[in-house]
Amino acid sequence: LDNGLMKTPPMGWLAWERFRCDIDCDHDPKNCISENLFIDMADRLSEDGWKELGYIYVNIDDCWSAKERDEQGRLQADPKRFPGGIPKLVQYMHDRGLKLGIYGDMGTYTCGGYPGTPLDKIEIDAQTFAKWGVDMLKLDGCYSNVTVQEQGYPLMSKALNATGRHIGYSCSWPAYQGGLPPKVNYTQLGKICNLWRNYGDIQDSWDSVLKIVDWFFGNQDVLIPAAGPGRWNDPDMLIVGDFGLSIDQSRAQMALWAIMAAPLFMSNDLRTISSGARSILQNKMAISINQDALGIQGRRILKEKSGIEVFQRPLSNNASSLVFFSRRNDMPYRYQSSLSKLNYTAGSYKVYDVFSDTAVTLKDSTDFVLSVNPTGVVMWYVSAPAKPSLHQFYKTGKF
Ligand code: GLA
Repeated sequence: LDNGLMKTPPMGWLAWERFRCDIDCDHDPKNCISENLFIDMADRLSEDGWKELGYIYVNIDDCWSAKERDEQGRLQADPKRFPGGIPKLVQYMHDRGLKLGIYGDMGTYTCGGYPGTPLDKIEIDAQTFAKWGVDMLKLDGCYSNVTVQEQGYPLMSKALNATGRHIGYSCSWPAYQGGLPPKVNYTQLGKICNLWRNYGDIQDSWDSVLKIVDWFFGNQDVLIPAAGPGRWNDPDMLIVGDFGLSIDQSRAQMALWAIMAAPLFMSNDLRTISSGARSILQNKMAISINQDALGIQGRRILKEKSGIEVFQRPLSNNASSLVFFSRRNDMPYRYQSSLSKLNYTAGSYKVYDVFSDTAVTLKDSTDFVLSVNPTGVVMWYVSAPAKPSLHQFYKTGKF
């Protein structure tokens, strides 16, 4: 969507995967969906080095609202759990240089059973969100059908635009239509939404990450052309820092989400996150690969019989990223290849290992061996081929 927003994939925090629809603030005050939870996460984002790296959205998901609209037919936050209302949270975020995202549903109810946004409520809801100062809307698709979605998602895009407020727009529409053409029209989506969920929900397990990875790279020829600045495929939240992934699997999720140019919304508890998970999520080179200005989504370029898969994303300044991923379950695998086997043929390259923070110069024809852990990755940033130097010219008479 060409609204000037999200020229690179949005980054931040989203409540759903980790905190779900926990509304029991009496018994679980620290973890229930309430203004305190979002204030806590905003504090962590702004005080623990996240914001500076680009993690600026604090996004509310389902179960924030009261069970009924107000007398004027407007959505309202649950008064007990959000006593200051959404405007107070917006203020809190904006005071800290953060942004607030909210959740709605193109249908009669949200997936959790709260008031949805049927067709005749689209305008009033867009206006309410804008009046509150909200910066992003995730519009889910429960309790509706093909026809309603076909009308509703474009109408909400128009309605948000008409408010005059810049509101990033995340559409769950394709996820409800199987994610593939001809049912899904990615050209249209790119014109009306900034990002969209293509596929099912992530859960806190490696199994779930693998399912998502398989679907997105299995359908890469359809999905890659859909993505670009202002319009992103969304494979769902990062679960790094939760319970389901080992350190190697966490690196794998971060690496593959960077290759996919995926939005980076963490759903974890930033108050208690381990230093290992934090350093993966805060890896500057992985983030800069994810945030590359060209906005080209990467692809799987090789599936070896050994169970090693190679992924590649083209980056600005003639650079690129490579990810070597092991689907093995036995032991670190010694993978042998060379840059020329991976179609790099311009001589000598400087190669940075993203997670070990080391660099080497590698000739295209030189064989290398790298050790890839089971369910883990090795991730490289490959900079542009070294330019022939004047020095070399004087020595040899040719470049
Ligand atoms: C759907 C969405 C999830 C989450 C829940 C909330 O399942 O795909 O991301 O928003 O609804 O109920």
